[in-house]
Amino acid sequence: MDALPYIRKFNKKTVVIKYGGSAQENPELREKFAQDIVLLYLVGIKPVIVHGGGKKISNLLDKLEFDSHFVDGLRVTDSDAMEVVEMVLGGSINKHITNLLNQSGAKAIGITGKDAGFIKAKALNEEKYGLVGEITDIDKSVVEGLINENFIPVIAPIATGGMNHPGFNINADLAASKIAVALKAQKIIFLTDTAGILDKDKELISTLNRDEIKTLKENKTITGGMLPKTDACLEALNGGVKSAHIIDGRIEHSLLLELFTSDGIGTKIK
Ligand SMILES: Nc1ncnc2c1ncn2[C@@H]1O[C@H](COP(=O)(O)OP(=O)(O)OP(=O)(O)O)[C@@H](O)[C@H]1O
Ligand SMILES: [Mg+2]
Repeated sequence: MDALPYIRKFNKKTVVIKYGGSAQENPELREKFAQDIVLLYLVGIKPVIVHGGGKKISNLLDKLEFDSHFVDGLRVTDSDAMEVVEMVLGGSINKHITNLLNQSGAKAIGITGKDAGFIKAKALNEEKYGLVGEITDIDKSVVEGLINENFIPVIAPIATGGMNHPGFNINADLAASKIAVALKAQKIIFLTDTAGILDKDKELISTLNRDEIKTLKENKTITGGMLPKTDACLEALNGGVKSAHIIDGRIEHSLLLELFTSDGIGTKIK
């Protein structure tokens, strides 16, 4: 009964959920995640999933003895690594999540930005990051078409770079925010492997604004994978998305707690 006002509020609204690679580790939690998404879908919310796959990509790159390192929270990607990124993100992870959702009672379709060429990108800074892309265009009609046919889109953050180009590896957080803006989503939620944004004493910060984020970056409290995530939150809000949250993907049903309770959880970016 407590959830009813929120169910009403989000009815027919698009909610973009960034499912972090770090939050995908535990098989039981993955099933719970799928059930939560299906619940949202059944109560009339339109979920769009954008997923990462950081750990799985790193594991395979390590096994193949390919170089893998991060600069500014972004994975420096050469053309060999790009092939692995595409295999893992667009292949195994994308299909795994899609299958989980379908087995849980939804109709999900997994795509990458190369499908229908719907995400186009250019190099963010080739010298520094290699094939890490910056999105230049999103054809939202592809995703909207799926939503209107009652499919849950499951999007791997890979973009097309044109004919004979291996494609671009897009940080999943930044892809999620661009997609949320394009779809005029009501909310964007980042599921990750921390309680939210933590301060120097590892305590959860429940709300943060642009200036506070700037300070936390400058004093190196926000580092690594949290850098693109906070940028993505600010970009989404700037682009008209009503709210942006970073929440703990390691807690059962964290999505439902965020969406359907008055307190919410994690860090809300204002
Ligand atoms: N101030 C901070 N608070 C919380 N986490 C932080 C902070 N600064 C850096 N981090 C790091 O950011 C990580 C989350 O980003 P990361 O990119 O690793 O995961 P993800 O984005 O959920 O997964 P993926 O990149 O695979 O999609 C945390 O595990 C933590 O190590
Ligand atoms: Mg990340």
